[in-house]
Amino acid sequence: MAVQKTYIMIKPDGVKNKHIGEIVNRFERAGLAVERMELGMVTPEQAAANYAEHEGKPFYNGLIEYITSGPVVKMIISGDGAVAKCRSLMGATNPADAAPGTIRGDFGLVMDENVIHGSDSPESAEREMGIFFA
Ligand code: TYD
Ligand code: MG
Repeated sequence: MAVQKTYIMIKPDGVKNKHIGEIVNRFERAGLAVERMELGMVTPEQAAANYAEHEGKPFYNGLIEYITSGPVVKMIISGDGAVAKCRSLMGATNPADAAPGTIRGDFGLVMDENVIHGSDSPESAEREMGIFFA
């Protein structure tokens, strides 16, 4: 499988609830590598760019408000098939549907605070790495 890079972000609830170490540990145990990592805020401009595909949807305003509400951990993760591998470690979008053993399944409670973001394709990954690590 091809070596890829993907953009991963531990959301404000994941930081607040002290899951940073456990989440990074899961990626590393899966054979993936941390290339960049930074704790900090998301600007409203970065939030809008990252979630442009959802503009106009009922949850959009809450999503932007939430992702800019507190510190996040921004990461570039690399490895064989990193994009799909990270999505599979994350689990389903809604923590209620996410399997036990996945990050959202183990640490998430509700859809609008679901612990972690990960790029959904190699194209999204390129775009999102450019937004957060210009
Ligand atoms: P989406 O890109 O569909 O999910 P994913 O993060 O798995 O790629 O949605 C982006 C985020 O928007 C999602 O992580 C949580 C939030 N969201 C809601 O709050 N309500 C919803 O109904 C949906 C679909 C998403
Ligand atoms: Mg998405």
